[in-house]
Amino acid sequence: MAASPASLVSGALGHVPIVGGPKVATQQSAAFTFIVGATYNEGGSAERLSSAWHMADPIYLDNHATTRVDPRVLEAMLPYFTEIYGNAASTSHGFGHEAKEAVDNARAEIAAGIGGKPREIVFTSGATESNNLAIRGVCERQNRRGNHLVTVRTEHRAVLDPIERLGRRGFEVTLLEVEQAGSSRAGRLDPDQLRQALRDDTLLVSVMLANNEIGILQPIAEIAEICHQRGALLHCDATQAVGRIPVDVLALGVDLMSFTAHKIYGPKGVGALWVRRSSPAVRLEPQIAGGGHEGGFRSGTLNVPGIVGFAKALALCIEEMPREQPRLAELRDRLFAGLTSELDGVSLNGPSLEQDGLRLAGNLNVSFEYVDGEALLMNMQDVAVSSGSACTSANPEPSHVLRALGLADEAVRSSLRFGLGRFNTDEDVSVAIASVAEVVRRLRKLSSMA
Ligand SMILES: Cc1ncc(COP(=O)(O)O)c(C=O)c1O
Repeated sequence: MAASPASLVSGALGHVPIVGGPKVATQQSAAFTFIVGATYNEGGSAERLSSAWHMADPIYLDNHATTRVDPRVLEAMLPYFTEIYGNAASTSHGFGHEAKEAVDNARAEIAAGIGGKPREIVFTSGATESNNLAIRGVCERQNRRGNHLVTVRTEHRAVLDPIERLGRRGFEVTLLEVEQAGSSRAGRLDPDQLRQALRDDTLLVSVMLANNEIGILQPIAEIAEICHQRGALLHCDATQAVGRIPVDVLALGVDLMSFTAHKIYGPKGVGALWVRRSSPAVRLEPQIAGGGHEGGFRSGTLNVPGIVGFAKALALCIEEMPREQPRLAELRDRLFAGLTSELDGVSLNGPSLEQDGLRLAGNLNVSFEYVDGEALLMNMQDVAVSSGSACTSANPEPSHVLRALGLADEAVRSSLRFGLGRFNTDEDVSVAIASVAEVVRRLRKLSSMA
């Protein structure tokens, strides 16, 4: 039997001292002190904090939608709200200088984290904007080369939608298929398919590094080579990959790469586009014009605390990756093993869990026969997960990713996506297994009585 959420919360109501034993990160402001919610063991990795304010919260297993800000990230950001609050572009005084210095440092750190140069980083409001800037920016600036675009059916809507819009404006679009359900590499793009789709007038190809629903990793280095042989540019949406797997823009060979802070325990509302500036330099039409910030690629006052937090978040992910990712893979495997031993009719969506290098460590996507995913979600009070892509839930529809795998509508509708992250524990997995199994059994019983 798994513990109930209430039995998981063991006491800690007040402040836990920072000295010795497990450390608790606390933040202080003039008005109040609060526990920011994670403990650190001696190795520096965070564990779930059993504190009273989690008592009513379900266990968060939706780390592909977003992640909780790491307390260490918050701590790095705080001074930039109230102390170092200058505009990074107003360098006629110390406030601006300090802000600019913080941005410069963050830019250098982020660039180093992905193998790029500082001047190749364009800060944006997030990966949606980065994708739009990359795709629309290239098409508006370089369309003399051709007007053929290539992407994949399983891309995020933040890629598919701008490409669809360009399609309505006269660009020709090829949507590539992926390996189908049943294959151990379900969701993977076959590079030969891309090779066949490319034409002399192909301007841009956009392929994501890691999928946000089924965690499949695409062979981007091979894809980049194929694109470049035909003179096409490659944009890569690496939103789910950066911070979770090693990412090096030069080794991957991409020309443009999008990523965002809120998937890596950083703040929401800040992202970046890496733009190749040499051999060859990629030219882009800015999508937001104004003061000419970010090398003219993206105007607007920089979000200094967000950028500082972004850099800190990425640095922590890179530092902790060798321990964090194997731990998440273990939790993920235990979650799947637990669900399949508790329940019949559970099937894995996406690539095999067994083969390394095919799937993000923290990703699990499963369908539960005879159960509606939405009903499942509504009945699961202990666990926060999503059915399909929460990033696109402003416009809920059955997952286009699972459909692209060739899954029947019922299997798509009965799917749940689990995203395990830094703050999840073994105990969380036990609760999730028990909770999902209980609700699935209950719903199946109800539907068999109907
Ligand atoms: C693969 C992928 N691309 C883009 C986005 C959009 O990112 P943002 O929320 O930073 O705009 C998301 C998630 O939201 C995503 O998972």
